[in-house]
Order: sequence, then C-alpha cells, then structure tokens
Amino acid sequence: MATAITQEPLHLIDVDAIVVALGGGELSGPALELNTQTDGALQRMIDANEASLKVGVTTSWLAPSGIKAPVVMLVGLGSCNSPENISYFKAAGAAAKALAAKQRDTVAYYFPECDATALETAVSGSLVGCHGQDICRSKHDLYTPNNILWATNDELTVASGTIIAEGINLTRDLVNGPPNMVYPETFAEQIQSLGETTSLEIEVWDAAKLAEEKCGALLAVAQGSAREARLVIMRYRGSDVVDPQLALVGKGVTYDSGGLSLKPSDGQKTMKCDMAGAATVVGTMQAISQLKLPCHVIGLVGLVENMVSSNAYRLGDVIIARNGKTIEVLNTDAEGRLVLADVLDVAVEQKPTHLIDLATLTGACCVALGLNVTGFMTNDQNWCDDLTRAAAVSGEQVWQLPMFKEFGTELQSKVADLRNIGTGRWGGAITAGKFLEEFVSEVSWTHMDIAGPAFADSPKKWVDGGASGVMVRTLIEVIRQLEK
Ligand code: BES
Ligand code: MN
Ligand code: ZN
Repeated sequence: MATAITQEPLHLIDVDAIVVALGGGELSGPALELNTQTDGALQRMIDANEASLKVGVTTSWLAPSGIKAPVVMLVGLGSCNSPENISYFKAAGAAAKALAAKQRDTVAYYFPECDATALETAVSGSLVGCHGQDICRSKHDLYTPNNILWATNDELTVASGTIIAEGINLTRDLVNGPPNMVYPETFAEQIQSLGETTSLEIEVWDAAKLAEEKCGALLAVAQGSAREARLVIMRYRGSDVVDPQLALVGKGVTYDSGGLSLKPSDGQKTMKCDMAGAATVVGTMQAISQLKLPCHVIGLVGLVENMVSSNAYRLGDVIIARNGKTIEVLNTDAEGRLVLADVLDVAVEQKPTHLIDLATLTGACCVALGLNVTGFMTNDQNWCDDLTRAAAVSGEQVWQLPMFKEFGTELQSKVADLRNIGTGRWGGAITAGKFLEEFVSEVSWTHMDIAGPAFADSPKKWVDGGASGVMVRTLIEVIRQLEK
C-alpha cells in the first residue's frame, strides 16, 4: 500500500473509485464540483434523502455520467459546518471500509478544504477502515487498495497521517493475532525486528535476566505458563534531552486465562486482547520514530501468559516485587497489576519526567464507563489534564476516575505490604489504579485503563471489529506537545 497526493480534478481522475465527503450547508468544494459535473444529480440525491450527510454514512453511486471513475462513494461528514476532528476519521474510515470488500488498485479521496489536523486524521481513517481483523483468513473481508490518493497539495500531512495509521494497524495486528501465535517470545521478536526498520533501540530481557533483576511479581504470573516471559525496552531519542521526557508502559498479557482463579469460557474467549496496552506502546513508538518527533521517549512492555498448571502461582502466595514490596496474592486473575508493578519500577529507574501506563486492566472499568471510554487515573492532576486535552484533539473518549485515599486502604494485607485485590467488588478499576500507584514513586503518572475500548466484539461503520488501536492517536498528540 502507498499513499500519495493528486491534483487531478475529480471527474477526470482515472481510478477504481473516488470518495467524496459531504459536509453541512450549501454544497461546496468537491461536493459542489461533483454536483456540477453530474448536472445537479448529487443535489437531487441529497434532496430526495438518497445521500446522507450523517457522519460515516456511505452511499455508493455507480457509474455516474460525467465522472470517469466507475464508483463514487459518498460519505457524510455531519451536518454541522465545522466537523469535529473525529468525524474526519469516521467518514474516511467508513468510506474506506465500504470500498474494501474487494481488492482495488487505486482509490482517490476528495474531502473539503480543512486544516492539517483534520486532513491527517482523515488520512489515518482511510487506512484504518480498510484493514481488518481477518489476518489469518485465506479469503479476506477487507482489502486495502494498492494506492490511496488524497486530493490536496499537503504532501507532508498525507505522509504523517499514513505513518500514524500504520502505527494503529500494527497495534491492531498484534492484538488480533491469536494467542498461540502471539506469545511473549514471538511478541518480543516482532518488537526486535522494529529495531531493524526504525531508529528504535531495542533491549529484550529474557527469564534469566528478569530473575536477575528481581522481577518477582511479573515472574510469578508467568510461572504457570510453558511460555517464557519477556520484558522489552524501546528507546527513541529524537532530541538531546538526557533523561526521557516520557516513559510509556504497557500490559502485555498475551493470554489471560485467569490462572487458578480461572475465568469462565465466555470471559476467556477474547483474552488474547490482554496485551493491547503493550501493543499500543509498540504502535506508538513505531509512529513517533517514523515521524521523527523531537523528543526522548522510552517504551517498556511486560510480556507474560497467565495460565493454569501445577507450577502456577497460587492464592495465598506472597511474592516480592522488584521495588521490594511484598504482595499477598488473593486472586490470580488480578495479574495485570502484578506485571505492571515490576515494569513501572523499571520505568521509574530511567528517571522519566512523565509516565503513562496502558492496560486492559479491569472489567470494572467497563462497568463504570462502558465499552468506548478509556478510564484515566493519576497522581498528578496537571499531567492528567494535559492528556485529557490531547484526547479532546484526537477525539478519543476518556474520563477520569477519582483516586481517593480510602480506595488504597482496601489493599492492606495482614501478611504482606499489599494484597492484589480490594476487599469487595465496588470501585474495582480504582483499587487497581491505587495498586499501581504504589510502584510509580514520585513520578508524574497517569494510568489508562483501556479494557473497554481496546477490543470490540462487533464492527463499527468506520472500523472492523476486534482490536481498535485506541489511544495511539492521543499518545502521539501528547508527545507532540512535550516541551522540546
Ligand atoms: N484482563 C482482565 C480485565 C479485562 C476484562 C480486560 C474484560 C478486558 C475485558 C484482568 O486481568 C482481570 O481479569 N481483572 C479482574 C480483576 C479482579 C479479579 C479484581 C476483573 O476485572 O474481573
Ligand atoms: Mn486477569
Ligand atoms: Zn488481564
């Protein structure tokens, strides 16, 4: 797949399909052009309610006379005059998905004049929408065109939108990969291969190194699996700043059976997605290195499989985390926080000024916020506000949960420094956040619980079901705002 710009008028361009976005108000820009070239047919379709302006609603128009392309895919950008950024993602994604049912050579996009942020978002959407979860199927549901053209002269923005989409799709492919193929060792190998194609410096810790580094919490989770654990560190240095400005930490449980606190079958079915936090870190690191952002960022992922065996960790075990804290295990399904405890400690040692962790951490966060909202928890309100503002730009939905002291007292144990679950089921997303807080020292930190939005059972108009790549766009936005 390659993206490029085109200057060709929409009625003359010789491609397999063109996409024309419809905004609110009077017809203008490409829509007006299309209407003129088709003798007013577009206006008649809109007046007859045969073409919708609603965000992401597509109308396929076959062989309109006056237009060279055999298909015109109309897509709504919403009836408001200045569409939100996310509408560009949804509109381009929906058109791309509607055209992806068969392999096409070239598709050209004609969107109304907009700022660079909106154009970049639209370009990303057009590449995410045609990329599916069917990676293991011989016959695909969705096919990415060989060439994608954007009618603009802003070549740089088309390039950056492409890079961001490739980061999102890398995250999605890793998450969509089945757990018999994507496990700690193979995941780490994939990250290592990024070191060959990007400027990222990759360091992999194997089980022996993890033991030497006293990562007792992460290793306890991993010990029930035949697959060895890994911790991977990715370094991106795009500026001379000595200590990293930001550390990104990801939960990488490549499969979460629950361990001895076994999940019922229904709960296990989608637990290949439990490494989405780690995959998000990887997709973001790839993108920022290709965008050559002027910053110093380090990514760390803890990769384990949570399984059942005679060697699995037990309820009642007391384990010793890397920072020396002892933890009484009372539920082996609360494993993500144990993995993160050690990875956060490694991250803190790198002296970042800011820290973010991403994790499909709790079902409780889905209960609280639904399936489309990321839960934020923080020890530094200013940092969390920065991230919330970045999410408002990207259009990804986030909501902050409180971190009151009382939630922390639930984690007191009679036999160890901490227990790994709260005393009851209420506020489960927050007790998990309070647990993580014990491992971030004084660093400005925000925890992102992506258990809801990381993985979808059913498709949306603008993206296939399965992994979503949520938060990659927000993280890139935040990293762009870091002080240079
Ligand atoms: N990976 C799960 C959380 C999850 C649930 C992610 C649904 C995506 C969708 C996590 O490891 C887990 O099992 N959490 C437990 C915690 C509980 C035992 C305190 C949960 O949410 O039930
Ligand atoms: Mn679990
Ligand atoms: Zn889990």
